[in-house]
Amino acid sequence: MGRAIAEALARTGYAVALADLPLDPLYQGEQAFSAAGHVACAVPLDLRSRASCYQCVATTMAWGGRLDVLINAAGVWREGAPESMSEADWDLVMDVNLKGPFLMIQAALPHLPEGAAILNIASDAGLVGNKGASVYSASKGGLVLLTKALALDLAPRRIRVNALCPADVATPMIEFQAETYGDGDPKAYKDRLLMQYPQGAAARFITPQEIASFAAYLVSAEASAITGAALPIDFGMTAGY
Ligand SMILES: NC(=O)c1ccc[n+]([C@@H]2O[C@H](COP(=O)([O-])OP(=O)(O)OC[C@H]3O[C@@H](n4cnc5c(N)ncnc54)[C@H](O)[C@@H]3O)[C@@H](O)[C@H]2O)c1
Repeated sequence: MGRAIAEALARTGYAVALADLPLDPLYQGEQAFSAAGHVACAVPLDLRSRASCYQCVATTMAWGGRLDVLINAAGVWREGAPESMSEADWDLVMDVNLKGPFLMIQAALPHLPEGAAILNIASDAGLVGNKGASVYSASKGGLVLLTKALALDLAPRRIRVNALCPADVATPMIEFQAETYGDGDPKAYKDRLLMQYPQGAAARFITPQEIASFAAYLVSAEASAITGAALPIDFGMTAGY
């Protein structure tokens, strides 16, 4: 999803710093962006580390000279009964999904000018509880309220902070979920996800590009009245029951 958002922003003329943990895909991404004629730079990042978050922003500033938009799109998924969640699961999910985005925002703030935008990719699981994914839900619920509180703090500086709350998006995360938690039948796992949607047989996963189009709009000047929002993109999953 982060890559799709970066592509959407690059197409509108942004120079983009791509940040990720695994280095091979990160540098391949940089090459693909450059081959497509975009201005892009790969920056290693481990969101679990405060030093890495600050270094990521410093490297980006040294490369690009300015920072107009920060997208927090990384995340990890863990699911299972509450008793099965280890302290290490809790720490990983909270560090990557909640503390990391906060550290990135802290590191970015001294550089963000008036009119800048921060966008956090939360989840439908940050708006309503996700049965079987208590720790993930807690991290995304925290990210939603972090977004809203920061929107108030940063409004006087004319920096907007919003969150997107997608339901299931066709990315490697869904594949990871299906492979890891699908009891050997990833297709059945994905079918079970789709059965929950109000669209019935017509239900489908959202594409990363659908999220990216809306993300690009939200950080643009056209959306300057929108801050503190946590917007569902979920086929109505959180509309009610
Ligand atoms: N795919 C979905 O169905 C879905 C739905 C709602 C919300 N989300 C959220 O959207 C965001 C993007 O998810 P995605 O579907 O693109 O998942 P993804 O697994 O495809 O991508 C997640 C990225 O986070 C990176 N990452 C993990 N740990 C990291 C760390 N310590 N430091 C830096 N980067 C790290 C991974 O390397 C990966 O590139 C996540 O926050 C996720 O929780 C996903």
